[in-house]
Formats: sequence, structure tokens, C-alpha cells
Amino acid sequence: MSKLAIIGGTGLSQINGLMITATQALKTPFGTPSAPFVLGSINGKEIVFLARHGNPHIIPPHKINYRANIWGLKELGVSEIIAVAAVGGITSAMAPAHIAIPDQIIDYSYGREHTFFTGESETLTHIDFTFPYNKQMRARLIQASAKQNIAISTKGIYGCTQGPRLETAAEINRMERDGCDLVGMTGMPEASLAKELNIDYATIAVVANWGAGKSAGEISMTEIERHLEKGMTNVAQLLTSFLSCC
Ligand code: HPA
Repeated sequence: MSKLAIIGGTGLSQINGLMITATQALKTPFGTPSAPFVLGSINGKEIVFLARHGNPHIIPPHKINYRANIWGLKELGVSEIIAVAAVGGITSAMAPAHIAIPDQIIDYSYGREHTFFTGESETLTHIDFTFPYNKQMRARLIQASAKQNIAISTKGIYGCTQGPRLETAAEINRMERDGCDLVGMTGMPEASLAKELNIDYATIAVVANWGAGKSAGEISMTEIERHLEKGMTNVAQLLTSFLSCC
């Protein structure tokens, strides 16, 4: 049977309706995960929750121990991950508070510990990463949103930047020319590490703001918080629907 984990990002540090049965702090060969894993159930379905930026929310995107997080989830028997991520919107459909289930990634991050294949084991493995997100999980998320009439984009290219600063307007223009619809800071190496450990992985991206230069003026944290609050209400509904139907 599959076991689901939800990794919550900015705006989702806990899950309403989660009946917590235990918390489990783990040490892994790659260090300590962002926070103790929260074990529990929603509607009778067992899930594991992890706050990606720690609890309290203080770990910046480039300092997150992605390897420990994914390794720890594997140790707990997790076979599927839904990653919730706040993003900036680049293309016109990706307005603040909108939700997208991305289907592709371009990785602009650097200097992160990004693989379990460190060259110390006997086999050299190159994982296939043609389709970074799991097709079936994406289809189930899309189905769950349709059931609740939540308007979403059913695909999109997620560009992962290094952060923690936001981008320049020129960087966002370049990303748009590259084909990116969304910009975030935590999608990689999380997605490829999950793939390395054979964990099915999909992302719910919640637009917090227009990417730099896509709206008048500068990006404010108050704006981000306001849109995220609205977007997260839909994410919560989508997750509940996913757990009950799909
Ligand atoms: N850029 C990168 N990451 C983000 C943004 C953004 O504009 N908004 C939320 N996460």
C-alpha cells in the first residue's frame, strides 16, 4: 500500500484536520531533516507531514537539507510525496493566489547537495529525469481539483532559483524566454532526490506574487502573505479532496 507525505512550504507549516498520532525526529546518513516528521491521518488515511523550512519557519531555501528530508521520508516508508510550494507567477495565467500542477522543471539553483549518488558507492547511477513529476500523481491532483471546482493550471514549467533573494526583472524575463511559467526556490533538488529514491513526487504550486517586473513596482512581503493565505485555502481543499477521492 502507498504511504503519502506532504511537504509544506511557506504558508503551509501545518495541516488543518490532521489527527496527529506521533512526531518523529530522525537522523539520517545525510544529517538532520528540517523538522521532526509529523505522523497522523486525515479522513482515516495515514500521512506524514514535514515543514520544509523547519518549525519555526527559519531555514532558507539554499540551507534546507533536502537529502535528509527525502531520506527520512523513505525510511518512514513513504512512497508518494505531494510538495506544496509558494511560487512567483511569470506567464499570464499564473496570477497571484492561482494554483498550478507543474509538469516540468528548469533548475537554476547551485551549490546544493543535490544527489545521493556521491561517487562513494560501487555503481554510478544516472536517473532518468525526462518527466520530473509523477504522471499518475499529477493526474490524481488534477482530478481532485476538478471534483471541488478549484480552478488550476494543469501544467507549467517551474524554474528553481537559488534565493533567498527574489529575482531581478531581467532574470524573470530570461526565465520567461526559457519557457518558465513559475519561479520558486525549493523545487530542486527535492524532486530529483525523490526520483533517486523511487518516490513518486508531484507539486502543488501556489502563486504568491507576480515575478519581478511583471507587476508595477516592487514585490512586498505583505502582498505575498495576503495572496498565499487565499491560495492556501484552496490548497487545503484540494488536499482534502485528493485524500478522499483520488
Ligand atoms: N521568486 C522565487 N520564489 C518565490 C517567489 C518569487 O517571486 N514568490 C514565492 N516564492
